[in-house]
Amino acid sequence: MSTHPNRIGVVGGGQMGTGIAEVAARNGCDVVIVEVDDARAQAARTRIESSIARGVKRGKVSEEDAAAALGRLRASATFEDLADRQLVVEAVVERKDAKIEVIQRLGEIVEDPEAILASNTSSIPIVELGAAVGDRSGHVLGLHFFNPVPVLSLVEVVPSLLTDEAVVDRTWAFAVDVLKKDPIRAPDRAGFTVNTLLIPYLLSAIRMLEQGLASAKDIDEGMVKGCAHPMGPLALADLIGLDTVVGIAETLYAEQREQLFAPPALLQRLVAAGRLGRKTGHGLYDYQ
Ligand code: CAA
Repeated sequence: MSTHPNRIGVVGGGQMGTGIAEVAARNGCDVVIVEVDDARAQAARTRIESSIARGVKRGKVSEEDAAAALGRLRASATFEDLADRQLVVEAVVERKDAKIEVIQRLGEIVEDPEAILASNTSSIPIVELGAAVGDRSGHVLGLHFFNPVPVLSLVEVVPSLLTDEAVVDRTWAFAVDVLKKDPIRAPDRAGFTVNTLLIPYLLSAIRMLEQGLASAKDIDEGMVKGCAHPMGPLALADLIGLDTVVGIAETLYAEQREQLFAPPALLQRLVAAGRLGRKTGHGLYDYQ
């Protein structure tokens, strides 16, 4: 009999939360995704439906599997609906106060003492989230997915100093056997493995644009055609969301104090203007 968690919760219906919920539901899990109000819960469900429909259109999911996945998925505006979950992934906004509040609430309401409380944070120290839940800290770890979640196979598994090794093993096996992902073990330092390398690259591209050294098109085309990246760094920053890029950069800079992590002014101004990338229709590029 499988001991993998099956009742999965996701907190946050943004692009990461919906992607995680979609992948779990498509792989047979019973999923509850929670948002702050009914309108956002409905929007999360709609986003998942259209992503699954895209999967069907591209021949990645059969009509039957798509219907079954949606049947296993519930979008809710009631946080307490997570009480019976065996594994919950929080995927709320990349702000430490918000994530700590969510993890504390999960620590209070999730009933199973063996439940795994995971965070999809890109940069916030997992140990601080673990420390926030007192005697459940051994069950808190990072489970960091990559956008678009249904397409990219990597997941970073990030234990903190407080995480039980058995919880790491269970999460790893769940990622491989159930979610069909390829995990790597990443250190609990700001940015983990991938963002420590990726963010300075994205910021360098934005600085190059800001300084007028090259056009956006030429920067992106250079990396796509010269290095076989699927998309250039400016398009990728817009895909990730410029607010998220700034959030990660600030956390990395606060911890490492190295100039290569400092967010450039252009990036900060775009965020201040509400131009957050693809999700708002404007960012480093215009999408409307
Ligand atoms: N389910 C399953 N498969 C899907 C799907 C879905 N819902 N939607 C699309 N796909 C599949 C498509 O069928 C296609 O597969 P094939 O190549 O086998 O045909 C593939 O995904 C690509 O889809 P598209 O053709 O629609 O899109 P594309 O070819 O233009 O690629 C992209 C788009 C996937 C975004 C690609 O450009 C890419 O991989 N870019 C890089 C993204 C990246 O680096 N992400 C990491 C960001 S960092 C991060 O997320 C972490 C952080 O903390 C910031």
